[in-house]
Amino acid sequence: MKIFHNKLELIEHLNQLRKLGLSIGFVPTMGALHKGHLSLLKKSSSNNKVSVVSIFINPTQFNSSSDLSTYPNNLKEDCSLLKNISEEILVFAPNSKEIYGNKMYVKSYDFKGLDKFMEGEFRNNHFQGVATVVELLLDIVKPDRAYFGEKDFQQLQIIKSLKTNIKIIGCETQREKSGLALSSRNNKLSLKSKKVASNIFKSLTFLKSNISNYNIKDLTNAVSDNINSFDQMNLEYLIIADEDKLVPTDSINFKKKYRAFISVFVDGIRLIDNIALN
Ligand code: PAF
Repeated sequence: MKIFHNKLELIEHLNQLRKLGLSIGFVPTMGALHKGHLSLLKKSSSNNKVSVVSIFINPTQFNSSSDLSTYPNNLKEDCSLLKNISEEILVFAPNSKEIYGNKMYVKSYDFKGLDKFMEGEFRNNHFQGVATVVELLLDIVKPDRAYFGEKDFQQLQIIKSLKTNIKIIGCETQREKSGLALSSRNNKLSLKSKKVASNIFKSLTFLKSNISNYNIKDLTNAVSDNINSFDQMNLEYLIIADEDKLVPTDSINFKKKYRAFISVFVDGIRLIDNIALN
């Protein structure tokens, strides 16, 4: 498997492949790969001749230095997981200088309100950092298609709103048998916390199946109280918003598509999830 640390070498290699008419799929990640990432790569490999995965823990999208310094980082383990999918995958594992040059920076974007609520509200400037690095990575790889998980649905919509010529493809959230959404942060959970955390998806499915029977405010209050009734869980937000503009609502107009978005601290670990409601 080819691993590139240098962007010019990757660009040169991809140029050669492009000259042969090969299509390129791209999966940007921050490493700590799990079956969710691998499913994105499988999709990329089935739609494209060449797949590139980037592994770069982007400092500019973290709000807390302790979150950044404790983010799991193990390139060797990631590469052995990738090898099981295909030896053909190209890995791009740059350092910060390779991506940002000598000085890290964040571009300023107007996401037209897509970043106003949920993650955007609770993680100040997070999406400015995400968009900055995604644009830089897309500019290096110049793929035909790029793949992102729907677990980070707000991130997916924001990336789709960037002006790129690249097809941005959203892929279904992968879950453990218990329903817990796969996430690199799950590595930080004990078995006991994981069991408790499975109530996050249970709450979302309960909400979905009762959405037409109750007033939305009463329903979200009841679900929030249920989450907070577990000693190990602390709800940060539970919001129902339309998929296009990501504006919270208390009433559903069934002509539009809606999702419930949730963020919960489980034994201090912040987990997010969402579910399509209609
Ligand atoms: O979803 C992620 O892992 C990151 O936000 C991304 C898209 C790789 C940008 O750093």
